[in-house]
Parts: sequence; C-alpha cells; structure tokens
Amino acid sequence: MNEEQRKHGQQANPTSAKSEKDYSQYFQSVYIPPSLKEAKKRGKEEVQYHNDFTIDDKFKGLGTGRKFYIRTYGCQMNEHDTEVMAGIFMALGYEATNNTDDADVILLNTCAIRENAENKVFGELGHLKALKRENPGLLIGVCGCMSQEESVVKKILKTYQQVDMIFGTHNIHRLPEILSEAYMSKAMVVEVWSKEGDVIENLPKVRRGNIKAWVNIMYGCDKFCTYCIVPYTRGKERSRRPEEIIQEVRSLAARGYEEVTLLGQNVNAYGKDIEDMDYGLGDLMDELRKIDIPRIRFTTSHPRDFDDHLIEVLAKRGNLVEHIHLPVQSGSTSVLKIMARKYSREVFLDLVERIKTAMPDVALTTDIIVGYPNETEEQFEETLSLYREVGFESAYTYIYSPREGTPAAKMTDNVPDDVKKDRLRRLNAVVNEFSGKSLLPYKGEIVEVLVEGESKKNPEVLAGYTRRSKLVNFKAPKTAIGKIVKVKITDTKSWSLDGEMIEEGLIGSEFQIPAEVN
Ligand code: 5AD
Ligand code: SF4
Repeated sequence: MNEEQRKHGQQANPTSAKSEKDYSQYFQSVYIPPSLKEAKKRGKEEVQYHNDFTIDDKFKGLGTGRKFYIRTYGCQMNEHDTEVMAGIFMALGYEATNNTDDADVILLNTCAIRENAENKVFGELGHLKALKRENPGLLIGVCGCMSQEESVVKKILKTYQQVDMIFGTHNIHRLPEILSEAYMSKAMVVEVWSKEGDVIENLPKVRRGNIKAWVNIMYGCDKFCTYCIVPYTRGKERSRRPEEIIQEVRSLAARGYEEVTLLGQNVNAYGKDIEDMDYGLGDLMDELRKIDIPRIRFTTSHPRDFDDHLIEVLAKRGNLVEHIHLPVQSGSTSVLKIMARKYSREVFLDLVERIKTAMPDVALTTDIIVGYPNETEEQFEETLSLYREVGFESAYTYIYSPREGTPAAKMTDNVPDDVKKDRLRRLNAVVNEFSGKSLLPYKGEIVEVLVEGESKKNPEVLAGYTRRSKLVNFKAPKTAIGKIVKVKITDTKSWSLDGEMIEEGLIGSEFQIPAEVN
C-alpha cells in the first residue's frame, strides 16, 4: 500500500477471491470494504490540485488492438466521468466500440441514487456472464457510485464472479494501473477509496459530440440530505479553481462548441471551500458570461445556497439561459425538515419570487420525492399545491427509495407501496398538465433551437432545444445539425414542440441572443 492509497483508505488487491471459500478467507485477510461511515468523516486536510497526470511508459500500448465499451447509468456527472475514462482508454491505445460483442473491456459506470438504478446494473451483470463465457479474455469492470457502497462490493465479490475489476469514483485516474492489474491477476481487482481524492486538472477527455459539453465546476456534496447517498459516494465538496474552469470554457468556445453545462452535485456551493478567495457561482457566471459561446447552463442547484448575486448575474442573460433546474423535493415544511433540506416552503417560494422578479420569463424545473417516511396525505397535497404555485414547467419525480447507510434508511417507512404509487401518479398528472400548458404560448412563435441531431423517433426530422430547454422537432436540412437556427412553432404537444425552420441563415455563434419568444 503506498502513501496515496493509505491516505484514502484503500483496499489492498485480493490475491485470489474467485471461489466461495476463497471469498470468506479473503474478507478476513486483505479486504477493507469502502465505508460510508469513513466517507462521512470529512477531514480538514486541504484538497491538492494537480496538473501532473501522465500515463506511465509501462502502460503505453496496453490497449493496442483492443476495444473498450462503457455503459453509463445515472446523472450527467457520470456521463462526464465516462468521457474522462474514454479519454484514458484512448490514451492507452484502446479503440471505442458501441458493441459489447466485440469489446475487450466492458465498464459499467453505475448510479446508486435509487434501488432500481442498482437493480438494472445487477441485471446487466447477469447478461454479461454469458458474454464472458464465450470470450474468457473479456474484462468486465464496475465503477461509479455503486462501487463506493460496501454492500454492493460484497455482493459482487460473492455473486458476480464474472466481474474482473471494481473501482470507485475517486479512483478514475488510476484506470491504467487497475486495467494492468486485472490483465495480470486471476482475482477480482478492487480499488475503492473511501475518502475523496485530490482534484486532477489534466485528465484526458473524449467528449461525446462537438455541440454541447459538460464542464465540472465542483465535485462532491456536503449537504447530507437525509435520503441521499451522494455525499458518501462522491465525497466532500471540492471546487475547481475559477481560472481552470474559465480556461476550459474558452477552449471549448474556440473549438466551436455551442453550449456548456456546468456540473456539480450542488453547484451553488461553488467556491465555498476555496479558502484564499471570496468567490461564488455568481462571480464565476459573471466571468463566463463574457466568453463567446452561445449558451451556458448549470446543474444542479440547491435552493439553500442560491444567492441574490447569482440571480443578478443570471438576469444579465446574454449566453446565460433562462432555465433553472431547482430541486425542491417536497412542498411541506415538515417533510423538508426531516429531509434536512434546511429551507421551508416559504423560503423556497420567496426564492422563486426573487428569481421571477429578476427574470419574468424564466423556466423553472424541479425534482420531487414522494412517499418519504411518514409523509401524510396533507403533506403530499402541499407538494401538489407548491408545484402549482411555482408553475414548474417540468419535473423529475421519484418514489422515495431507502439507501443503506443514510439517516432516512433508519426511519420507519410507514407509507404503503400502493399509496406511494398513487401519489406519484397524481403528481405526474400535474407535471404533465403544467408541461403542456407551458408549451401552449409557443404556437406561432419563432424560437432559437440548438440542433442536436436527428429526432429519435424519425430520422427525417431534426431535434434540438431552446434556451428554456424545450424540445423542438422540425424538418430542416441535416446541415443545420450543430447550429442554432430559427424555428417557427406550428404545433405544441405535452412534452415537445413541432415547427419549421424559417431560414437557412444560421445564427451560429452569435453572442447576443434575443428573448426566446419574440
Ligand atoms: N430516493 C428517491 N429519490 C432520490 N433522489 C435522491 N435520493 C433519492 C432517494 N433515496 C432524487 C432527488 C434528487 C434526484 C437526483 O434524485 O430528487 O434531486
Ligand atoms: Fe444529495 Fe443533492 Fe442533497 Fe447533495 S444536495 S445530499 S446531492 S440531494
């Protein structure tokens, strides 16, 4: 175990854990599981910033003649981690493939946020067993948030012997070492650090497409909402330095990207952990606003840290779009308290009011959990009434899913399953109604659409999004893909708009963009 591994509470690699008998011996001897308790011990030690990632000569060419395949589950943070892992694979000489049948390495980049996300991964591991039987040289790896959970690692070690490597969210930069170990060892290679790593700036990335890009602005979360596993699986909040982010966005603009989404589990806490600067998300957005790139978004917000300076900066618009995803989770102050969200219904509504005053045409979307332990019918109805009062234009809605190791998992869950399902159904009916309503005023209007590609349902039709994140399907030549074009809306549906491109004259990277609905 080296110094770096010791610092992060790393497991030594097993010598052999390929049989049930070995497995129990292995637990008693070398295996130290990733610990959620350990992860919660937020140390005072400072985050180190590195710019020194290199691929050791001994790993160069590891991927020559080999192909990799990564399946990503969950949030944009995972999608972006996949881009980094793809970058490392390519730097090692691997080629990408979209087909599991001709892959030499398959990685499942997993999500732990709800039980059904985990079940999908276990199901997929079951399918991959047959592939491994046909191709014993195939390496199968599990990474991402599930790998940070002790129970998952134990289950994989015990039941999914087809897996060759498990590595955590803090170990991505160690992919060359992990792969090389997996090729040499017959045993499952497990490398999961309970504590977060440092920030490494120069990891290679292969971005998917050249229209929209994700840019991390911070990692981790310190909010510890009582239901949520993320603060444990992703570690403490670590902000990237503003100059690094600005540089990355500038370089994306220079390479012709049209849109950047700034990523973090709680982006509004950006900068709080940078000790030598009094600098927040508002300050960062104010600087990014000056970069010549048509659209900048950010996700995900926490209402608690959403300050007036940020609202003031967003109201300057330009390339800062009029869409804010603002998860509320519940409309009941009592439930919010048990969730440890640290705001009340009234405080949330006041924030919405301030945002709407500064930007009357803002599109607000949200996340909501129904069926929290002890949630009463009245409390659920408060969520419905809050939804109507705010007039959210869309929402991700979930039934509460207990996550082992979180405080909520210890609460008595006394809401019957059928009641939970019924609440979700009722909430979704309101969500649909408001989505449809929010689209009606677009009929006959001209909007600017960033064209992402062919529509999933009909390759004859192109699809893209407006500044306020409305999906638009329209007929236009394929040359419009990757551009911002003007589209006249001819029809509105519950979730999308139909239209016609009104001009060949493309807006391209024009900096000042007028209001969406003219
Ligand atoms: N159960 C259900 N939904 C959850 N979310 C987070 N944790 C849970 C859980 N244990 C939802 C929240 C969050 C979104 C990303 O996932 O609404 O905002
Ligand atoms: Fe999870 Fe978001 Fe709460 Fe952090 S702020 S604990 S990521 S729900």
